Amino acid sequence: MSTASDPAAPDAAVRAARVLSRPVTLNGLTVPNRIAMAPMTRMFSPGGIPGEDVRDYYARRAAAGVGLIVTEGTYVGHPSAGESDRVPRFHGEEQLAGWAKVTEAVHEAGGTIVPQLWHIGMVRKAGKPPFPEAPAMGPSGLVTAGAEPTGKAMTQQDIDDVVAAFAQAAADAERIGFDGVEIHGAHGYLVDQFLWEGTNRRTDAYGGDPVARTTFAAEIVAAVREKVSPEFPVIFRFSQWKMHDYTARLAETPEELEAILTPLAAAGVDVFHASTRRYWLPEFDGSDLNLAGWAKKLTGKQVITVGSVGLDGEFTDSFRGEGAPVKNIDNLLDRLEADEFDMVAVGRALLQDPEWAAKVLQGRFDELKPYDAESVKTLY
Ligand SMILES: Cc1cc2nc3c(=O)[nH]c(=O)nc-3n(C[C@H](O)[C@H](O)[C@H](O)COP(=O)(O)O)c2cc1C
Repeated sequence: MSTASDPAAPDAAVRAARVLSRPVTLNGLTVPNRIAMAPMTRMFSPGGIPGEDVRDYYARRAAAGVGLIVTEGTYVGHPSAGESDRVPRFHGEEQLAGWAKVTEAVHEAGGTIVPQLWHIGMVRKAGKPPFPEAPAMGPSGLVTAGAEPTGKAMTQQDIDDVVAAFAQAAADAERIGFDGVEIHGAHGYLVDQFLWEGTNRRTDAYGGDPVARTTFAAEIVAAVREKVSPEFPVIFRFSQWKMHDYTARLAETPEELEAILTPLAAAGVDVFHASTRRYWLPEFDGSDLNLAGWAKKLTGKQVITVGSVGLDGEFTDSFRGEGAPVKNIDNLLDRLEADEFDMVAVGRALLQDPEWAAKVLQGRFDELKPYDAESVKTLY
């Protein structure tokens, strides 16, 4: 970041404020600025119920300028969806009542908020809470490419049940005051297990070429769309990489990416959230566009970028306990000004520093802190 001794600092500050503080409308929702908080799992909801600390955690970030909060992944109402009793659930009276208080507090603070709806699929380990008797299931019972099946290949009934659970969660989200929903279609969890050929070996209508592998995700999007108001934004998060394979790719070419994203756009996605680990890396040869940029170019939909915004050192390092120094956002602003993407999601920097958005929007760059992976374990 620019420092007080940097003669360019005032200009950089003015530019950051000008570019990031423009409102943006996603379907029927107007977000006050271009900064989104990336979804980040936390284990602070015993019994799957988000309590006052969770409410305050999100409200604090909204009050300090985050335009759109995407909550941590929250399990949809299907017994095989999760593997922790401390991850918030998006079903059940007490759980939804907890979420309603979160949305209220974020709105009072001037922000907007969507839940990230999540089913972990084959990442689930047998016997884990919140529903120990539930089997692990996925398209072909595989955790990653080349693995032996360790779970159940989903039946048509399983597929229908999960689709209905996502749709119900979206209807509940609108009912209790959320501003939209994000479907977690990334990182090697259930929806992505269908999208990726490494984990989808099916020979029925849900497997085969990229379009066929998109059938499950498109059914979820269509079912969600049917249960919510037409103006309610539906965001779809996707990624090339998987938790079990950072080098995996869904699409090797723009054509393959188009084959996957087009049916999702047609089913009703308003915004694609392209999860990368470093936003400045070009996705395909012959163009500077990153993954979000390509999603926008190929679908004409709005897109959110993410990945090491404000930090040098990617987030997967943080799982090994590594920190990251502060990095300037000049390249990000260039790309945003060029309309490569519409919003910018920020993960670790906002996890550690609830004031990050206010500091950036006000040009207080010299107050930004390096990411300290150890300290965030105790923070909320
Ligand atoms: C602690 C932690 C938890 C995360 N949990 C989720 C999650 O629940 N859902 C998801 O889609 N991504 C999750 N991510 C990925 C982030 O949303 C984001 O894409 C990633 O951290 C890169 O952004 P950053 O470099 O700004 O941190 C998580 C990341 C971190 C660091």
